[in-house]
Amino acid sequence: MTSIEIIQTDITTLAVDAIVNAANNTLLGGGGVDGAIHRAAGPQLVQECSALGGCPTGEAKITKGYRLPAKHVIHTVGPVWHGGDKGEPRLLENAYRNCFRVARHHNLTSIAFPAISAGVYGYPMADGAKIALSIASEEAAKGGFERIIFVPFNSQAEKVYRDAAAALGIG
Ligand code: APR
Repeated sequence: MTSIEIIQTDITTLAVDAIVNAANNTLLGGGGVDGAIHRAAGPQLVQECSALGGCPTGEAKITKGYRLPAKHVIHTVGPVWHGGDKGEPRLLENAYRNCFRVARHHNLTSIAFPAISAGVYGYPMADGAKIALSIASEEAAKGGFERIIFVPFNSQAEKVYRDAAAALGIG
C-alpha cells in the first residue's frame, strides 16, 4: 500500500531512497532547492552531475546522494512558466513522470518531491500541485512505491498542497 504524504520541511533532511531536485538544464547547481541540495550533498554531487551532460526540460537523471541522508538525488528540470500556453503543463507532467520512471528503474520505493517549477520558474503552485498529486495517485495505483512525499517549504505552500490533495480525494 503506497502512502502519499505532504510534509512541510527542508527536503535535504529526508532519509528516503531519493529526493527530487528542481534543477536547471546544466545540472550544475543554482539557487532554491537546487542550491540547498548541492550544499547538503557536498562537492561530489556537482562532480557527478557535470559528467551527465545536462538534462533537457521534462527529463530526469539520477545521481548518488553523497552527504545527504537520501540515498539518491533524481534531478529534473521543470518548465519556466510563460502563461500556460507554451506547453508548460505537459513539460511539468513529463518531469514528474520521468522522476517516477527513473525511480522504478532503480527499484527505489520512497521518493520526495519539492514543488517543481513553483519557485524561480514561476509555475502557479496550485496548478503544479494538482499535476503532481494526480500523477502520484496513478503511480500509487500501479504499486511498487511505499512512500511518495510532497515537501512544501512553508505553511502557505503546505495549504496549497493539502487543498489540492483534498480536491483529488487523496489522503
Ligand atoms: N526543501 C524543500 N523545498 C524547497 C527548499 C528546500 N530546502 N528550498 C526551496 N524550496 C521550494 C521553493 O520554496 C519552491 O516552492 O522549492 C520550490 C521550487 O523552487 P525553486 O528551487 O526556485 O525551483 P524552480 O522554481 O523549479 O526553479 C528552478 O531555480 O535554483 C534554480 O538551478 C535552479 O535554475 C533552476 C531554477
